[in-house]
Amino acid sequence: MRECLWMSDIVLLETGLELPVKGEIAYFNYFWLRDSCPTSWDSSTQERTFDILEEPDDLCPSAVKLNDDVLEIVWSDGHQSCYELNWLRRWFKGENHGDLAIRTRKPWYSDHYSDMARFTYEDVVTNPASVANWAQAMLDEGVALIQGMPDLDEGLQTLCELFGTVRPSFSGYVFDVKSKANPENLAYTSKALELHTDLPAEELAPGIQFLHCRVNDAEGGNSLFVDATAVANVLKENYPSYFRILTEYEVPYRYTTGCQDVRTKQRIIELDPNNGEVSGINYSQHLADVFDFPQREMDSFYPAFRKFGKMLQDPQYLMNFRLNAGECIVFDNHRIAHGRAAFIEGSGERHLRGCYVDRGELRSTYRVLRARYPKMEEIPSTQAY
Ligand SMILES: [Fe+2]
Repeated sequence: MRECLWMSDIVLLETGLELPVKGEIAYFNYFWLRDSCPTSWDSSTQERTFDILEEPDDLCPSAVKLNDDVLEIVWSDGHQSCYELNWLRRWFKGENHGDLAIRTRKPWYSDHYSDMARFTYEDVVTNPASVANWAQAMLDEGVALIQGMPDLDEGLQTLCELFGTVRPSFSGYVFDVKSKANPENLAYTSKALELHTDLPAEELAPGIQFLHCRVNDAEGGNSLFVDATAVANVLKENYPSYFRILTEYEVPYRYTTGCQDVRTKQRIIELDPNNGEVSGINYSQHLADVFDFPQREMDSFYPAFRKFGKMLQDPQYLMNFRLNAGECIVFDNHRIAHGRAAFIEGSGERHLRGCYVDRGELRSTYRVLRARYPKMEEIPSTQAY
């Protein structure tokens, strides 16, 4: 057992050290400190090139000192590490890198249509600051409308690539929603589509969904959108045991065609690993497989599942609107449950073209663009003048 040593204000313990940071005593593990030394990263690629596995099991400093606002450590192999106290404080306080993309989700309800964030195609393809604002709306509200879309396949691809690379699903890179003979999917009929998130049978269900309305002359077929995180938070408040069940049970989903048999398990309510908030849902009765929990557990699972499903359908949460030709609705497929009212077959043409981009790409784009184009209200007051 190593002795506890005092070096001015620093206490060296067996596995780490304690030091005062802004009036508090902060503890830092030796392996973490050595691994996080600023020299551990390649200066051009920013990838870690240091290998913590090469260090001895009893890694410890041979000397430490506080030099103004910098902690200096000399390790037993002679390597010297310097850490700014402000930087250490961020990790001690859990502020980490200060991720711009971790934002508070703003719940919305049935009356959201008039308030929904809107951008023109022309604006976002020519103005990166508008893409930052659009990405922010996606993070905060999970949905935005792009208007003035060109009636071209390339328009959708250009729009998607403002956020990231189009990612394929088991339907390919794009899909066309219009009724057709021998449909493999209910979306390709004129029937109503109940509220769902797309493709939970995929191991990584699609993140951001784009639906470009090319033609909508049919009678009926209104779009139905629900902020499922708002509904899940009401469930958490009023039915905590149901909420717990839906965040814990791994539900089987399956999508089969003549040449595909796609299966995975998903939690119906997803929690954000950054802050524990509800981040989304995986919900599709079309693609739910036979539930395979022990039968006794069905006694508690089904009431939770039915209650949440009925809450999603509650008119107070349901945004009901008509998507018009030339508009592209863009939404977080994990956060927004979407559906469609039936339309009258033969009453007119209806064609939506869709595709997906991962949510990680949206967040990456937001971090880069918001750092480049900060909003005035987000600039710290010391820099605003
Ligand atoms: Fe869908």
